[in-house]
Amino acid sequence: MKRPRVARGPKSLVLFDNKGGVGKTTLTFNLAHMFARLGRRVALMDLDPQCNLSALALPDHVLESIWDDGKPGQTVASCVEKVRIGKGELAQPVGYELADDLYLLPGDLRLSRFESRLARDWPQIMAEDNELALHAVTAFDRLAVSFGAELLLFDVGPSLGALNRAVLLASDAVVVPLAPDLFSLRGLQNVGEVLHEWREEWETARVKNLQSASRRREPPPWLPQRGMQPLGYVVQQQLTIADEPVRAYQRWLKQIPASFAEDVLQRSDPAPGSVQDDLHCLGFLRHFASLVPLAQAAHKPLFELAHADGVVGSQYQTVARATKAFEQLAEAILVKLDALGVVTAKQ
Ligand SMILES: Nc1ncnc2c1ncn2[C@@H]1O[C@H](COP(=O)(O)OP(=O)(O)OP(=O)(O)O)[C@@H](O)[C@H]1O
Ligand SMILES: [Mg+2]
Repeated sequence: MKRPRVARGPKSLVLFDNKGGVGKTTLTFNLAHMFARLGRRVALMDLDPQCNLSALALPDHVLESIWDDGKPGQTVASCVEKVRIGKGELAQPVGYELADDLYLLPGDLRLSRFESRLARDWPQIMAEDNELALHAVTAFDRLAVSFGAELLLFDVGPSLGALNRAVLLASDAVVVPLAPDLFSLRGLQNVGEVLHEWREEWETARVKNLQSASRRREPPPWLPQRGMQPLGYVVQQQLTIADEPVRAYQRWLKQIPASFAEDVLQRSDPAPGSVQDDLHCLGFLRHFASLVPLAQAAHKPLFELAHADGVVGSQYQTVARATKAFEQLAEAILVKLDALGVVTAKQ
């Protein structure tokens, strides 16, 4: 399965949705493992103060010892602490090795304290003497670059607040996990609006700051130009019968291509009538039922579960299905990600 490593520029990806509990963290964790199996050097950053990704990836005692230890660099919050208080630089991130070519920078409840700083600083990015504000809002981008991975995956909560805005600023690509239901489709409108708004606001600030640095004949500050490009959506957690989504979902499934095109891509040309024909549909993930708690207990991806983790009988078939589904999904995402333009980390 493992392929030879090919040198590529660093890319960052976030699974983003305005609906809670749609499966972002589970998908991020499993995809990261699959990307590493496919030969990429991957880093996960837990940017949700709920820390679900860290709890999924690490046994309680390991996570607690990282938190108790409190050495700078071991969690996202500790990396940005000096930036948060306006008194210094980022601490160098210390990744926890989860598997070959897969590292995690764990989360921390204290990351929520950074959010008020980010909210306060955002209007300042257009002002004069905005060095500290720019330093704060670009902290995640600088952190991601100093991590040194080829592919960065950020896990975020479902909010549209200042913390997630700063994460999106550091993201080249966005994948939207969707459940085929009313709430997910409504959430799409919000996702589309904020992506548009954040992109525009940041681009205006970026150009203004580049111009003032050039006027002052100073080197420009760190001004990432990442793009937050929507790569597509993943249809999540469907109940299936004979590998077909159950009928109750059909009504919502049919609406997804048009909603994604209008709300997220802001395109008005006609969208395909079904998700199967939609180029923006990156894949489908079924409901993996009892495999999910087994994977949580083993801190493993679904497709690595074995007898020792409690897999029995027909669950082996579900493990095989999960392997195929994640492999296809990871390949589909990588094709689109690799096609994105070269990242310019610093202007
Ligand atoms: N494919 C799946 N099959 C079955 N259960 C799943 C699947 N994906 C996620 N779940 C379960 O759904 C619940 C929510 O998943 P998860 O925490 O990944 O969602 P989330 O979008 O990250 O939530 P939040 O918005 O709170 O960050 C969890 O209990 C998880 O175990
Ligand atoms: Mg989550």
